Parts: sequence; structure tokens; C-alpha cells
Amino acid sequence: MPEVGLIPSPEIVDRKIRDSALARSRLRGIRLPTFAQLAGEAPMPEGTSERLTSVDPNSPDAANLSRVHWFNAADRRGRVEVPAHIILPKALTGVEAPIVVMLGSPFPMIGAHKVLPAYAALVTRLVTGTFDPDHHRAVWPSTGNYCRGGVAISRILGCDGIAVLPEGMSRERYEWLERWVADPSHIIRTYGTESNVKEIYDKCHELAASEENVILNQFSAFSNYMAHYACTGAAAEKIFEDYRSRNGHARLAAFVSATGSAGTIAAGDRLKKNFGTRIAAVEALECPTMLENGYGEHNIQGIGDKHIPLIHNVMNTDVVIAVSDSFPDRLNLLFNSDAGKAYLATRDDLDPQLLAAFSEVGISGLANIVAAIKLAKRMNYGADDVVLTVATDSARLYTTEMESAGTKFFPGGFGSVDADKVFDACLADINDNNVLELDQRERRRIFNLGYYTWVEQQGISVEDFDRRADQSFWQDIAASVPGWDGMIEEFNNEAGLN
Ligand SMILES: Cc1ncc(COP(=O)(O)O)c(C=O)c1O
Repeated sequence: MPEVGLIPSPEIVDRKIRDSALARSRLRGIRLPTFAQLAGEAPMPEGTSERLTSVDPNSPDAANLSRVHWFNAADRRGRVEVPAHIILPKALTGVEAPIVVMLGSPFPMIGAHKVLPAYAALVTRLVTGTFDPDHHRAVWPSTGNYCRGGVAISRILGCDGIAVLPEGMSRERYEWLERWVADPSHIIRTYGTESNVKEIYDKCHELAASEENVILNQFSAFSNYMAHYACTGAAAEKIFEDYRSRNGHARLAAFVSATGSAGTIAAGDRLKKNFGTRIAAVEALECPTMLENGYGEHNIQGIGDKHIPLIHNVMNTDVVIAVSDSFPDRLNLLFNSDAGKAYLATRDDLDPQLLAAFSEVGISGLANIVAAIKLAKRMNYGADDVVLTVATDSARLYTTEMESAGTKFFPGGFGSVDADKVFDACLADINDNNVLELDQRERRRIFNLGYYTWVEQQGISVEDFDRRADQSFWQDIAASVPGWDGMIEEFNNEAGLN
């Protein structure tokens, strides 16, 4: 089935297909939450929290759709006013600026926020009548977490969800997928690691030849941008407002986000509009695509590169920061191995509760923290300059990666002396190398790089590609949220589920 335009608008495309989706929703009692509800800006229907108390957050239960937001409590069952986050002090980071890390692990089913863009991709198709759960298979191209989110959402809908991901992703991701897919053939392993996104696209082209396969491409789906702008942006604002209520002079200086599909970084557009926040995109130094049109392999899982996603608002990005994967890999050992934890426990300048919370920070989250420290150093940020960043998933997905890092970096074993050295090398002594402040020319260079993927390889017209240089293009997407919410409400009403 072909993709529907560059940006699908909130209008019904095919009534018959939509009717089929309605029938499925009615049958399975799938009430679709609106983006405003997921953003915490509109109330969930009455009785939602009561209904959720008996629902396991890890089960493919339709009620878990109401948990696809940042406001889940640490037990992932209840709801909190301020989304989960940790605040890193100078004793840990060596910089005055507080580094605030939003935690994605309380999201349901997959323990990562990528279930949000997966929901956004499918809900926009259900309500427009461009996905028929009776007939179509949802194909989720991914570097690991988005396809898990997609498979979870497909399970709820009762349709086939096909995960397409590089073979080199962590064993924990594959174990999860094996438990959730309807058939082992629904896991498609493509060549390489997360830097091999081109191979994922090639496989999707092959699959798209079959009319029953609908490719829900996070790298080009503007629903991904929209959901993060609306929901992650709102959650980030809530966290910052809460911090500012206790620290009157605080300003939201920067939003730092490693880019895979470049969905999460869309929250930065909202923060820039509302707070003048700088937006910093993070990538692996071993594959410095934005920094210097580079290529290579790395282990910051979840970051897909060697390409610029279609949904990356490059012309609004202010800084590019490249972090070597050896930093998050070693920090994973420091925070999550027994020897690392024993060392950290000896440091009475560090709060034990904060240290324990690092179990909720996966490899890309650690890379984001390193990048945030680099940025704070480069910009000379002070105690009032909040740097906000994200941990998409938890360290629980990288236990085997931690073991490999141990063997790679410390073949003789990782002990407290090593932990002390890692602390200094990967936190206290971080420098501001490989931080590139973007002027218009650098932005244009990165923007142009996308041409080869999207126009030459993926068949986007030059006009559509170029439209993305104009900020009004992105503002229009953000402004379309109420239109989509109206369609979702209407769908729920017709399904008799409001
Ligand atoms: C662990 C992890 N970190 C970072 C990212 C990047 O997020 P985004 O795709 O929103 O740019 C992803 C995306 O899949 C991820 O799985």
C-alpha cells in the first residue's frame, strides 16, 4: 500500500477501510486516546484510572493505550503530576548547570517512549481509513524500540505486526520480540547495526510490493514529529515548570536529544517556541553524519544514522554533538555493574537514590547525558541554565551489552580502580570536543545531505523535500493536533467507546 502524501491531513481517505477499523475497535473495546489526553492537557475519560488498576502495564491490553504517555508512576500503574525524571548535580557531572533527564522507562509494554510514535503512526491511519486491521499487516522499520512499540500496538489491535530491525541489536530486544510476535517470521533481521538504516529501507521496499503490507516508517512519518511535539514537549514543559517553581531564576537553556528517527527532538521545537530553548542533536562520534557527513559503526543502540530523517527539522537545530560510544558503554558498566555500584556507594557526595535511578537509563540516555555535559561546558552554562535531555529506555535492555563492554574495555576484569577511572574519564573530565554550533550554512549542509536518501532513493519530490526548510511547514504539523484529536473523538463515538 502506498504512503499517503507527505503529510496526511486529518481527513477520511477511505470510509470502507475506516468502517473495518471501527468494527475491530468496537469488537475489542479499543478506545483511542487523543494526543491532548496523552500530553496531559485534557482529562482521560472518567473511570480510566480505576479501570487501569487491574491492568498489567506489560500486557497487550487495550486499556494500556491510555498509558502511552510520560505521566506513569514508577510502578507503571498509577499516574503522577510531574513525569518521571532525575536531576544530575555538579558532583556527578562536574558542571554547574543542572542536567535533567526525562525517563522513558515507565511507558507501558516496552519500557521505552517509542511506543508513543508507534501509536501515533497507527492511530492516524485508523481514523483516516488507511489501515484495515482485517486485511493489512503493520510493518515497523526500526533500530529496535519503535518496532517493539509497533508490535505491541498491533497486538492490541489484533493484526499482524512485522518488526524490521538490524541483526546487531541487543539480545534483550530480540527476546522481547520473540515473546510478543504472533509468528517468528514476523521478526525480520536486516544486515548490520543501527547505522545500517539504508538496509532497513531496502527491506521495506521489498515488503511494500505486497499490497497487504503497510509500512509505518518512523523516519518519514510526520505523526512521529507531531506526537513528540505535542506529548513529549508538554511533558518536558511540566518537568521544567516544576523545577522552576523551586528555582525561581531557572531558564530552560537547552534540549539535548540523540536522533534516531529524530522524533523525540521535535519536543525541542516546542520548547524553543515557548522558552527560547536551544536544540542540540546528538550522534555517535564513530558515525558523525551530522558533524561531518561521516559514516561508520557504533553501539549507541537506537540511533540510526548515515542519513538525515525526513522528519528532522534540521533548519531549527542549533547544535550537533558527537559522543564516542565508548563513553556510554563504560558508563553503563559504572552505573549498572556490581563493581561499579560498589565504587559509587563509597562516594558520599552522591545521593544513593539518584545512583539507583540509573537503572532507568539506557545506553542512548547515557550518551545524551555526556552530550549535555559537553554542551554545558561549551556554553558556559551556570546554575540557572537547565539542560533537559531524555533516557528513551532503561539499562535493563543492555545487560548483555554491559557484559560485552566489560570484556572489550576491561579484559582483566572491571574493579573499583577501573570504576574510579571511568568516573573521571566519562563524567568529571569530559571536554567540549565535537560540539558544533550550527550557523545557517552548517544547517543547510545537513539539510542538503537528506536529499540523497529522500529524493534520490525514496522517491520524495524535490518540492516536498524543500518545503521542510521553512519553519511554517513544521508549525502547520504542530497545529494539526486538534484536527487529529477531533477525528479520534469522532472515531471513538462511532465505535460506541466514549
Ligand atoms: C534507545 C533509543 N534511543 C534513542 C532513540 C532515538 O529517538 P528518536 O527516534 O525519537 O530520534 C531511539 C529510537 O528508536 C531509541 O530506541
